[in-house]
Amino acid sequence: MSTAAIARVVGRRVWDSRGRPTVEVEIHLAGGARGTAIAPAGASTGSGEARDLRDGGRALGGYDVATAVANVNGPIAKLLAGRDAADQAALDRALIAADGTVDRSRFGGNAIVATSMALAHAAAAAAGVPLWRHLGGDRATVLPLPQIQIFGGGAHAARRVDLQDFMVVAVGATSFAAALAMTAEVYIAAGSLMAERGSLQGVADEGGYWPAFANNDDALTTLVRAIERAGFVPGHDVAIALDIAATQFFKDGRYRFDGRDHDSDSLATLLLGWLDRYPIVSIEDPLAEHDRDGFARFAAAARDRVQIVGDDFLVTNAARVEAAAAARACNAVLVKPNQAGTLTEAKAALDAARAAGWNTIVSARSGETEDVTIVHLAVGWGAPELKVGSFARSERMAKWNEGIRIEEALGSAARLARPFDRFRSS
Ligand code: PGA
Ligand code: ZN
Repeated sequence: MSTAAIARVVGRRVWDSRGRPTVEVEIHLAGGARGTAIAPAGASTGSGEARDLRDGGRALGGYDVATAVANVNGPIAKLLAGRDAADQAALDRALIAADGTVDRSRFGGNAIVATSMALAHAAAAAAGVPLWRHLGGDRATVLPLPQIQIFGGGAHAARRVDLQDFMVVAVGATSFAAALAMTAEVYIAAGSLMAERGSLQGVADEGGYWPAFANNDDALTTLVRAIERAGFVPGHDVAIALDIAATQFFKDGRYRFDGRDHDSDSLATLLLGWLDRYPIVSIEDPLAEHDRDGFARFAAAARDRVQIVGDDFLVTNAARVEAAAAARACNAVLVKPNQAGTLTEAKAALDAARAAGWNTIVSARSGETEDVTIVHLAVGWGAPELKVGSFARSERMAKWNEGIRIEEALGSAARLARPFDRFRSS
């Protein structure tokens, strides 16, 4: 038996940042190496995502994962026994085939993604290198530029404002560590501004301040003020990134946004107006997941000025990325491994985006844990951006801190990605 042969697979129930059950998978190899990973969970999900298997019923709000855990300890463990952990693509394909559903609902997207990530960690451990290096080799020298939430909203803040993520990007930073320090200054400044307004009310699901604002414009103006108060030039040192998450407020063909009813074009016009008024460099899901024509019209007007990101719209699916590229509907993709199901499929979506000349952003979910796999994926796969939520709560900070360690391990070879330079000239 080779040292990378899978000797034991253990699934267990652990808990995420919302206090809900989730799946942890631990994989032991014959040579003693071990890999562990935990499935994250979304709240504002796209309809095309792999589905987590939840037990339903009254206990734990229906969120329990006993069946998904049993699937890891039963059929998944049996499927993987004795196979070579280093053969990620073949093992992911075997998982997909044995599950047999399009949405991964038999084994559970949660069981499958935790298994797929644990396999990668085990293979890296067997090779004696960190996962980022196992994936990227000597070419993995680029740290992703972080998109960091300052105010939460949408489904992560009881719909207090419609817009989901008010984020900043430290476009003027020259290292990952410096980007975090700049963002920390903005986060502190935003907190003091909220306190002065008497509107500091704790944080939303991903650690951004609770959005006690009259409307989206009020939040955007406050964000620009926070950047200035932190001593930065908005747009030059620190810019704004938004996740509109428009699927969440789309109903019966209309968008209910900022207290008004919009069709696709009037929402796009409102957002284009924001591009004129605020230093926005990235805008995610500006329209709903099924509104591809709306995406394409928005992109025709904005693609040279701003990064247009598909999240719910593309659900980390290579075929959808290819179709959106053909329709010229986006110029960037959000890559969430648990939307796809396996690492192999997530990487295929990233590769499809790269082939189209797009930017790529590896992303966490609103329900997270201490698992830091996505940081290793971003560096190992060479994704120029990383989105993890805010600059508070340890399930977020664990990821940012891991990036600091990777940058330090790379030493003088480390570079910070500059994904927004392409939009600067226009
Ligand atoms: P989710 O939100 O994890 O709740 O889906 C994150 C996002 O929309 O980017
Ligand atoms: Zn999103």
